[in-house]
Amino acid sequence: MQASETSPACATEAMIAREQALSRAVLAFVVTGLLFMLLPGTFLGVWNLISISSRHELDSMSAAWIQAHGHAQIFGWIGTFIIGIGFYSLSKMGRLPRFAVRRAWIAWALWTTGVAMRWAAGITALEWRIALPLSALLELSGFVIFFRTVSGHKADSGSASRPKPPKQPWMLAIVASTFGFLLTLLLNLVSAFDAAFTQATPAIPHALDQRLLAVPVWAFLVPTVWGFNARWLPIFLGLRAPRGRLLLAGIVGAFAGVALSVAGFALAAATLSVAAAVLAIAALRIFEPAAQPAKINGVHASFPLFVRLTYVWLLIAGALTIWAAAADRAGGIWGASRHAVTVGFLAGMVFAIGQKILPAFCGARILFNRHAMFASLLLLNVGCALRVASEIPAYEGFAFATVFWQALPASAVIELSAVTVFAANLLVTFLRPAPHVVAKQRAFA
Ligand code: HEM
Repeated sequence: MQASETSPACATEAMIAREQALSRAVLAFVVTGLLFMLLPGTFLGVWNLISISSRHELDSMSAAWIQAHGHAQIFGWIGTFIIGIGFYSLSKMGRLPRFAVRRAWIAWALWTTGVAMRWAAGITALEWRIALPLSALLELSGFVIFFRTVSGHKADSGSASRPKPPKQPWMLAIVASTFGFLLTLLLNLVSAFDAAFTQATPAIPHALDQRLLAVPVWAFLVPTVWGFNARWLPIFLGLRAPRGRLLLAGIVGAFAGVALSVAGFALAAATLSVAAAVLAIAALRIFEPAAQPAKINGVHASFPLFVRLTYVWLLIAGALTIWAAAADRAGGIWGASRHAVTVGFLAGMVFAIGQKILPAFCGARILFNRHAMFASLLLLNVGCALRVASEIPAYEGFAFATVFWQALPASAVIELSAVTVFAANLLVTFLRPAPHVVAKQRAFA
């Protein structure tokens, strides 16, 4: 039969098949992200922390190993999740083009190979002068395919003549964060080429690395969370509609802070980031009473509390970053501030929101175990609190430093347990058949 003769029923079936194929690609992104989080990310982070604690000195640790851990967490875990969710959003935007599924797999292959190559180059140093820039090129290519597919896909409005509605603040936040992602990968490419030509090891020089770390965190990940929160927290937590202008002011503040950080003005950058966080909290009405009951179907009842707690971590991170920029001597205050934002805010948010939405996005499933969700969030917050509270006195050599050096490995093991429970809960969820599949099987039995 010619394409033009395709009946509406056949077209609908083809569309459903395409959506299911895209859902499998999204699942591949999510599972890949979980694997990066577990071994190259968290396990290596725990290993690094135990080594640092046994020698009582941060500088004793290989900078390439520390950076391999950070890269696996930011790009391998959270970056991979975000690209997967971006592809999922295509299926909600109207008619899904045929090429979307193929492109999703190509982007997955390029991205995953790039991130894995970067990690291996940092850990083994094998052929790193080639592997480091090549990995950055692969990551950028994977992202560009994602970016072109998502940005080139127009929503099926049903009428070409209907005027487009104005973009809502949450959409603008997501657009800004997507450009932040692109900027991050471009800077990653430049610094990888620079290291390959000028350095003796596969580590980005410390001073440059320190400045550049603000880019993925404050221009990409934090604005992404704010954008998604503006879209979904009014529904999930029953909050009142966000204050759009304040949100955009927060995003502008975060980007301005990144520019100052890259230019080397750490204290001014930190101050601006805190102001941006305060604006975003006010915009999203995080600590204001909810207008509607929270939607906790499918998740643990503590879900709204843990989402709000992430914003407490964001404020703690901001205050610590100002302190670090003003007074850090041995990397302890910087380390604590970095993990307050990456573990307390970002990982806390991914644990909470991820366990709510990912089962649905990956084939209309239901989370395997709500109590495991609670356990993962509790362990993550306890581990993060112990880490942040111990790292400063231990690394900086304050009073009772020895006691805090002993607490640090415990914090790492608690965080590792949190991550393992989170990953296991999602993996079991994905391995079990979706409820609609079970219902269909029963109907045919
Ligand atoms: C879950 C347990 C984790 C452990 C035990 C851990 C451990 C470490 C250690 C020991 C360092 C070296 C600097 C320092 O001592 O502070 C470090 C750096 C870093 N970590 Fe983690 N981490 C964890 C989770 C995370 C997460 C979830 C993220 C991001 C989402 C992250 C991102 C980073 C980054 C970006 C760096 C700096 C890398 C660089 O210097 O380029 N970490 N981590």
